[in-house]
Amino acid sequence: MSIVLHPLEISHSERIMQIERLSFHEKVCEDAGVYRRRIETFPQGNLGFFFNGLLIGFFCSELWRHEREYDVERFRLSHDITRFFDRDGTDLYISSFALDGSYRNELRGKQAFFLAMDHMHRTCTVESAILLVSDQWTAAREIYRQWGFTEVQRIPCCFPDAAEGIIMRARFARS
Ligand SMILES: CC(C)(COP(=O)(O)OP(=O)(O)OC[C@H]1O[C@@H](n2cnc3c(N)ncnc32)[C@H](O)[C@@H]1OP(=O)(O)O)[C@@H](O)C(=O)NCCC(=O)NCCS
Repeated sequence: MSIVLHPLEISHSERIMQIERLSFHEKVCEDAGVYRRRIETFPQGNLGFFFNGLLIGFFCSELWRHEREYDVERFRLSHDITRFFDRDGTDLYISSFALDGSYRNELRGKQAFFLAMDHMHRTCTVESAILLVSDQWTAAREIYRQWGFTEVQRIPCCFPDAAEGIIMRARFARS
């Protein structure tokens, strides 16, 4: 597999936005400024998947100080990463994950997610992970389930199409 995982850079912004628009309904698309702040704040956790040098997908994350339960406000789309980011945090919040489907023969979502999670485990002192997913995003939910995430909370009418939001949590294996 000739896929390279590398931190996103500001120069990738246009391609990130292309993939964002291909992947998400316009009402849930986040803008270039949101991605720029993620890249500036936490380059090690905002990773691109590259095929022959071309960006074909991304995995975005934040580090949070671990709390047993978070206010649902925290999961608001397009929130500024700097609001909750804690460099010493051990909870990995996955803020975005998408692939350009035209390269699915080169990289499947499951492979990409497992690669990124493995990279984060090796390079940061993360102990647990948390994310919000729409109940309509079946492939993503299945990938998270297979990685070890379980549902901890449902938020009614969380997404613009009135879809439920699901907060999922997982623990990294002790290394
Ligand atoms: C999420 C995304 C990266 C998944 O990529 P993908 O290449 O389609 O994923 P995979 O082919 O690896 O599928 C993952 C698993 O879900 C399963 N799956 C996919 N669609 C399914 C469905 N409708 N019902 C049940 N299972 C399904 C697959 O069978 C696969 O499991 P398997 O490998 O055990 O067979 C891609 O669809 C994407 O970018 N979507 C838009 C953005 C998005 O939803 N991001 C998630 C944000 S939280």
